[in-house]
Amino acid sequence: MAVNPSVLLGIGGGIAAYKLAFLASRLVQCGVRVRVAMTKRALEFVGALTFEGLCGSRAILSSTQVDADGAVPHIEAARAASVYVIAPATADLLAKLANGAADDAVTLLALTCRCPVLVCPAMNDAMWLSPIVQSNTAALRARGWHFLGPVQGHLAEGYDAIGRMVEPDEILARTLQLAESST
Ligand SMILES: Cc1cc2nc3c(=O)[nH]c(=O)nc-3n(C[C@H](O)[C@H](O)[C@H](O)COP(=O)(O)O)c2cc1C
Repeated sequence: MAVNPSVLLGIGGGIAAYKLAFLASRLVQCGVRVRVAMTKRALEFVGALTFEGLCGSRAILSSTQVDADGAVPHIEAARAASVYVIAPATADLLAKLANGAADDAVTLLALTCRCPVLVCPAMNDAMWLSPIVQSNTAALRARGWHFLGPVQGHLAEGYDAIGRMVEPDEILARTLQLAESST
């Protein structure tokens, strides 16, 4: 693998968002430079400070963010990225991504990056199996985006069904594989 690949993590507003802290930490331990982008809803589930502390870089929290040094992070982060991982990819986020929305940091980065995109959906079984979510997923797959999960397992609703996000270690392995093939 090239020295210090760069991974962008786009975090959506789902219950599995807390697991992304573990993924970010594991990536950093693997020598990967990590920059995190979060939707406003993601911030209701987990704080940006957690990721900033783990990754040593400012999180990108809005589509109109300009950093203190004048850098426009969605341009610089997208340019540097070897892989863009979007997780948990909520039903709402999949709809926005499939339609080219760019009104938050996560969707804007999806349009500005040129690297492989890895999407890890997470939602309850009813949402995942709904035709509109399946149709949005198919549209993104058709554009060459990579998907991992969801899997069958325990859902926050309290029962086992399809919709659970794959575990962070599995996302880590796929991310490193994509980073290696894209650099
Ligand atoms: C406790 C709680 C957990 C949620 N978990 C999920 C989830 O796992 N997947 C999902 O698609 N939506 C979930 N939602 C709904 C999303 O938070 C909501 O659709 C939100 O607008 C998605 O925002 P985003 O586009 O920033 O991801 C949850 C809502 C609540 C209140």
